[in-house]
Amino acid sequence: MTELAVAQKNLKKNGWLDLEVDPTLDLVKEINKLKKEKNAIILAHYYQEPDIQDIADYIGDSLGLSQKAASTKADIIVFAGVHFMAETAKILSPQKKVLLPDFKAGCSLADSCPPHLFRKFKEKYPDHVVVSYINCTAEMKTLTDICCTSTNAVHIIESIPKDTPIIFTPDKNLGAYLQKKTGRENMIIWQGACMVHEIFSHEKITKLMLRHPDAKLIAHPECEAHILEKAHYIGSTSGLLKFTKEDKAKEFIVATESGIIHQMMKKAPNKTFIPAPPNNTCACNECPHMRRNTMEKLYLCMKHETPDIIMPDWIIKEGRASIDRMLEISKKAGL
Ligand code: 13P
Ligand code: SF4
Repeated sequence: MTELAVAQKNLKKNGWLDLEVDPTLDLVKEINKLKKEKNAIILAHYYQEPDIQDIADYIGDSLGLSQKAASTKADIIVFAGVHFMAETAKILSPQKKVLLPDFKAGCSLADSCPPHLFRKFKEKYPDHVVVSYINCTAEMKTLTDICCTSTNAVHIIESIPKDTPIIFTPDKNLGAYLQKKTGRENMIIWQGACMVHEIFSHEKITKLMLRHPDAKLIAHPECEAHILEKAHYIGSTSGLLKFTKEDKAKEFIVATESGIIHQMMKKAPNKTFIPAPPNNTCACNECPHMRRNTMEKLYLCMKHETPDIIMPDWIIKEGRASIDRMLEISKKAGL
């Protein structure tokens, strides 16, 4: 059996095993070598582990990552993120190979809106425009009129005539936040949520704020309303990053996945960042899906060029329009 055949067999059975990689290997050097040899680009989301962020060619939020996936000249896109992000990259650059270091890196929010259920739901509201948060499956994108991310969601909603009713899916927290922010009443919201952003403890955050009276609470709009109500600033990952760099405060309580703190510390090394505590005893607020990717899996997927995203043509064709509309509106808004 060839090395690739063995790798694919293993992958099917177990996913990558970190143990397969020689622990003495200089992964940074090897990954950089593979990048050059294969004309590959590594795109990483802010929720990836620090080593992956540091080796990436581009780190960004969901909007920035899709813009980069659409414009790159590389032959291979290595997506250090989750499945729906890699699918979006494939829809935007179908001629390219798109690799995802761990194929099981899913998303609880995307899973909370199964396309077969949404299709039936949508049939009940034929005059509604469907706006889907990009954190949804590729098939959901075929049932969507316009995608959005947390960076452009307000612009997307406001681009739709006020008297046109909207179905917003899948995130109920972002949906409620948008409804409040834009004053849209004619909006039906699918009741999905992200497991990471729903875990923050109101009580523990309140105590933390009392102990750190000068700290500002910053939150991602996927958080529940009772957390958002307390926040000094609400924004996407890139919005939060910009805010912590530019704001006068020296201390921040960060209510989003803690991976972003790596970039916050890099951009403002003299400031203090406290991860918002979750409502369980485990002290972590890391996304278990995002964190499936490791340097070892990144190396293996680049070496063997697997697993790669393969989608039926009809999904690529029908899913693209909703992402293109989002990119057009974002461009006009200067995002
Ligand atoms: P943004 O980086 O676009 O804010 O999205 C956050 C997120 O949950 C990605 O899974
Ligand atoms: Fe999905 Fe939440 Fe993880 Fe983002 S943080 S990938 S929305 S589960």
